[in-house]
Amino acid sequence: MKVLIIYDSKTGNTEKMATAIVEGAKETGAEVTMKKIGDPFPLSLLEESDGVAFGSPTRYADVTNEMKDFLAHVADYAKMGKIKLKGKTAGVFGSYGYDGAWVMEDRLKGYIEAIGYKVVPKVCVKVDTELKTRLKETLAECRTWGKEFAKSLK
Ligand SMILES: Cc1cc2nc3c(=O)[nH]c(=O)nc-3n(C[C@H](O)[C@H](O)[C@H](O)COP(=O)(O)O)c2cc1C
Repeated sequence: MKVLIIYDSKTGNTEKMATAIVEGAKETGAEVTMKKIGDPFPLSLLEESDGVAFGSPTRYADVTNEMKDFLAHVADYAKMGKIKLKGKTAGVFGSYGYDGAWVMEDRLKGYIEAIGYKVVPKVCVKVDTELKTRLKETLAECRTWGKEFAKSLK
């Protein structure tokens, strides 16, 4: 099973979550690859993966501009038939600071579904204070989510 984690992070919170999700997914024996937006990688990696978890911080009630650009680029590629992603499974994770939880449920999910992905209903969304005041427990929850996501691909 091949799992890909693609994320963006500006101050490290979503990155910590991504790392824990990778650890959890690896516990299932899956081959897991983690890429940060800005890392160079071919989009064929998305097609070769059984499931992709997309993660972003909330920025002005949306995902980061870089994540949005990346997803628009993926959508264009898929529309042109250069990669086939329709019906593939995706997961959503990310962090927010005050009122941004719905962004992950709504915006990020919407962008990914528009590409053709089938998004698993359970998201992994954390508020930044949780990543400071109860880091260990919060990352354990992210690890569990990563494990469940990888398991759901079987
Ligand atoms: C410029 C800026 C805009 C933000 N906009 C929002 C927002 O609209 N809603 C929200 O809930 N949090 C917002 N936040 C808080 C971040 O989403 C939150 O701190 C997040 O955990 C940062 O993730 P990162 O460390 O992975 O970059 C904003 C933070 C910054 C710096």
